[in-house]
Amino acid sequence: MDRYTAFANSSFGRSLLSSLGMPTPVDLERHDPEQKTLIDGAVLFGTTHNGAVAQAIARVLKAGGSELFVYAQGGEQASAALAAANASGKSWDGTPESAQKFKGLVFDASGITGSAQLKALWSFFHPVAKKVATCGRIVVVGRPPEQCSDPKQATAQRALEGLTRALGKEIKRGTTAQLVYVAEGAEANIDSTLRFFLSPKSAYVSAQVVRVNAADAVSVDWNKPLAGKVALVTGASRGIGEAIADVLARDGAHVICLDIPQAGAELQAVAGRIGGSTLALDITDPAAPATITEYVQKTHGGLDVLVHNAGVTRDKMLGNMPDKFWDMVININLSSEERINDAMLDGNAFKPNARIVCVSSISGIAGNLGQTNYAVSKAGVIGMVQSMAPVLKAKGVTINAVAPGFIETQMTAAIPFTIREAGRRMNSMSQGGLPVDVAETIAWYASPASNGVTGQVVRVCGQSLIGA
Ligand SMILES: NC(=O)c1ccc[n+]([C@@H]2O[C@H](COP(=O)([O-])OP(=O)(O)OC[C@H]3O[C@@H](n4cnc5c(N)ncnc54)[C@H](O)[C@@H]3O)[C@@H](O)[C@H]2O)c1
Repeated sequence: MDRYTAFANSSFGRSLLSSLGMPTPVDLERHDPEQKTLIDGAVLFGTTHNGAVAQAIARVLKAGGSELFVYAQGGEQASAALAAANASGKSWDGTPESAQKFKGLVFDASGITGSAQLKALWSFFHPVAKKVATCGRIVVVGRPPEQCSDPKQATAQRALEGLTRALGKEIKRGTTAQLVYVAEGAEANIDSTLRFFLSPKSAYVSAQVVRVNAADAVSVDWNKPLAGKVALVTGASRGIGEAIADVLARDGAHVICLDIPQAGAELQAVAGRIGGSTLALDITDPAAPATITEYVQKTHGGLDVLVHNAGVTRDKMLGNMPDKFWDMVININLSSEERINDAMLDGNAFKPNARIVCVSSISGIAGNLGQTNYAVSKAGVIGMVQSMAPVLKAKGVTINAVAPGFIETQMTAAIPFTIREAGRRMNSMSQGGLPVDVAETIAWYASPASNGVTGQVVRVCGQSLIGA
């Protein structure tokens, strides 16, 4: 917790800052291994009369173990979906006097086929908008507009984005709001995504739109989804890479921690702590792709998860930027990733149902002053993910990216104070994220049960105003 957030969480600080109209960031709840339910509080579940994903959602909610409610008005369909999933929900009357608070709100809007039916969103969310607990979770489920044959249906489904983005800004107090588009036939594949967005693991992810496509149904132990898997994380000696290594190991993976030889001692410390192994090399070395490919084949018979995290900045306004700054940033942040992917694919070094996860940046989405080189490299990462996803699908490999916003690391600690404070506060959470927030998002992509998720870019930015 930064000092401002700590002050805002004291009783004196909270009242002083709110009376001054200053941001009052809450202490975000994050994953706690002791928590037995998916979400720590009651969940209100609703659907339109023809919500085709409702039964699958009900199945996930039942498995999550939280207290379930359905809104009495028009709640018959939600009750029926719960009954079909062998679960039951209490009826919630929706009156303003009700003292009931909800930690989770889940609405299946997949049945909305025209703009007039968007009123169903108001009917569900209006009575409960002031009853969301701190660090609440809102998930709206729809159908991908590009897969709707009727333009009216596509229009209404696209409109759902407006709701989740606005709710993310409106409800605040650590609450997140997401839209999950579930393709027809992908209902069995929503578990990992719905679980991630309902859990505290998505603490700093808000106002995101994710598409889940049909894929083989894979069941996992949700406490150890990566048991028996081998992951390689580049740039793992510190910062975000270290957190990724920690979280993937927590989820059961053997983690190969890679970083430059100069970071050898720190790398050893990380790998030692998590029972992983080390690979000390520079990813821009021309021999690196072959070395990595041979190493994973020889030691583990291939790789399940490859995380391209290593990255650098060399900021200068373009007019002052030496070409070596340009070359270095593009080479480390983008070209080396392409070369490693190619070598791994050519060498058949990915195991079945493998994952590639890349670390982009909101700078690659919004651009940033003094970062033409970095923004090009990170926008290129998004291009690589989107263009490779269909190609890799045939090989049973997914590729996705996270785009972090302001994350508290050595990289952001080096930013001048005023710019740093602006970056930290200009988001719906009014605070920076932690490396673990990026790591948890990567772990969701990495799960064997996320095989319906590919070609996606999810921002880990607390709904930053930049590039939104
Ligand atoms: N910190 C943020 O707010 C933020 C925001 C957006 C994106 N990112 C991205 O997240 C990733 C991690 O960032 P971080 O803040 O932890 O940075 P960091 O500088 O703390 O860590 C980067 C790691 O990559 C390693 N590395 C650099 N060049 C390498 C090379 N040629 N070969 C092997 N390893 C190499 C470094 O030694 C270092 O350990 C980067 O891709 C960065 O661009 C960070």
